[in-house]
Amino acid sequence: MPSNNNLNKLEVLHIQGNDSLIEVMEIRRQVFIVGMGIPKSLEVDGLDTEADHFLAMSNELPVGTVRIRYIYNETIKLERCAVLRDFRRRGIGSLLVKSCINFATDSGITTITLNSQLDAVNFYKTFGFRSVGNTFIEAGIKHVKMVLTNKSATSQVS
Ligand SMILES: CC(C)(COP(=O)(O)OP(=O)(O)OC[C@H]1O[C@@H](n2cnc3c(N)ncnc32)[C@H](O)[C@@H]1OP(=O)(O)O)[C@@H](O)C(=O)NCCC(=O)NCCS
Repeated sequence: MPSNNNLNKLEVLHIQGNDSLIEVMEIRRQVFIVGMGIPKSLEVDGLDTEADHFLAMSNELPVGTVRIRYIYNETIKLERCAVLRDFRRRGIGSLLVKSCINFATDSGITTITLNSQLDAVNFYKTFGFRSVGNTFIEAGIKHVKMVLTNKSATSQVS
């Protein structure tokens, strides 16, 4: 995996569940399993082949990922947003979330939901997501549900 901090060329690839997920899964392994101690049996949940994935490439090296799944009519769920530690706070996570929002807009999706770790709530708020309901425990970590809804909220972002 990459270890340099050079971000001269940044792009986001759209990967579908039938395509190779090797790079996606390796980033998630490093961030969630190694970095956060989440059991592999929870991280690899069997839902990846039905999801769409976005993969952030820095100088053609994979550094971040996120997936989305259709939940019900016009609603998708954003999951597994992860950026390698050495590449954080450089706008890569934002680029991935914006890719999901723009995908939703282009697909006629009006609502995006997610379960945010409490530490990441302020990150998602920057895109207009709002917290709903009480905190709960998922994979041993406190989470809260967040929602971005209505056509104006899911209009194209840059
Ligand atoms: C959350 C995560 C994906 C953010 O990725 P990133 O590339 O660092 O995000 P960005 O650089 O685009 O951050 C944009 C803004 O979001 C906010 N932000 C980012 N990470 C944050 C954090 N951990 N806590 C609070 N605010 C945060 C900041 O305002 C930041 O802007 P700034 O750097 O100018 O202050 C990344 O920290 C990560 O992979 N964390 C571990 C896995 C995780 O928690 N995933 C979310 C599961 S719900």
